Amino acid sequence: MGVHRLGYVHARVTDMEDAKNHYSNTLGMKIVHEEASHDSERVLLHGESASMEPVKRCYLKCWDEWDHHSLVLEETGVGLVKLGYKVSNVDDLDKYENKAKAFGVQVSRMSKGDNLATGDGVRMTMPSGHVLELYHEMEYTGTDTGTINPDPWPRDMRGVGVHWIDHCLVTAEDPGLFERFMMEALDFRPTERAITDPNNPELIASWLTCEMGQTPHDLAVAKGPDAKLHHFAFFLETWNDLLRAGDIFSQDDVPIDVGPTRHGITRGQTIYFFDSSGNRNEVFAGGYRTMPDFPTITWTGEQLAKGIFYISREMNEKFLNVVT
Ligand SMILES: [Fe+2]
Repeated sequence: MGVHRLGYVHARVTDMEDAKNHYSNTLGMKIVHEEASHDSERVLLHGESASMEPVKRCYLKCWDEWDHHSLVLEETGVGLVKLGYKVSNVDDLDKYENKAKAFGVQVSRMSKGDNLATGDGVRMTMPSGHVLELYHEMEYTGTDTGTINPDPWPRDMRGVGVHWIDHCLVTAEDPGLFERFMMEALDFRPTERAITDPNNPELIASWLTCEMGQTPHDLAVAKGPDAKLHHFAFFLETWNDLLRAGDIFSQDDVPIDVGPTRHGITRGQTIYFFDSSGNRNEVFAGGYRTMPDFPTITWTGEQLAKGIFYISREMNEKFLNVVT
């Protein structure tokens, strides 16, 4: 068994009301829980100290997700607090706790309830400084369409109507070390890699899929500052859904970074945009499937712009440099 999907993104926002409007009204997520509390379990990064003020948090899920939540927002700035990946078997928690310790990163156990509606787990600080949690159980709350004779989508779907949180791209000063950690400690597989030059290869970016997954990527890394977020992405079914999402972004004055266009890497279709705090989001459609025997694809530095944006073959400064 092993890790099988991205389960939750826990992100920081600057203004909770604006963020709720973006993720709930524009993207169509459902708010499932809100709180403002002093939280002893807050993960502190890079020498932060716990706030004396109550921290506002909001928990949301997409209409096509059955677990309790997939996005946690907290009003503490910008960027990532942590990522949660779901494992297939409770024994996987012990397995990956040991493998991460053997790799040499900081690892601790989480107890049921440390994260709302979430069972026991393992928390690790990756070589890049990102916090990644593994868990096996989250409260099952189902979908509005249900599991008996379901409609293909709910009639009260709002805004873009994103299906699920699909993947995340983070930055690391040493993407090679990050990739090795994901492969050796967590059994992820690289589906695509970008290198400087085949004769003198230095890793620029890697797109990794979970051992038990079949997606083009569940977590990707690109060279950049440690512990930063480049984007997290929401799944849509079709190119037409992306176009409709673009219309809604215009109606709601959502800042667009790039798109709609297509990636060479993953072959997915995409729009990159920013939430109300400046965190980059993506709506992502299509993409190939990956089996355990999927061979790793390589992109070379001089073709990387085509790999990222296949049609324009250009990368803008904002896309390259803005991280939160
Ligand atoms: Fe993406």
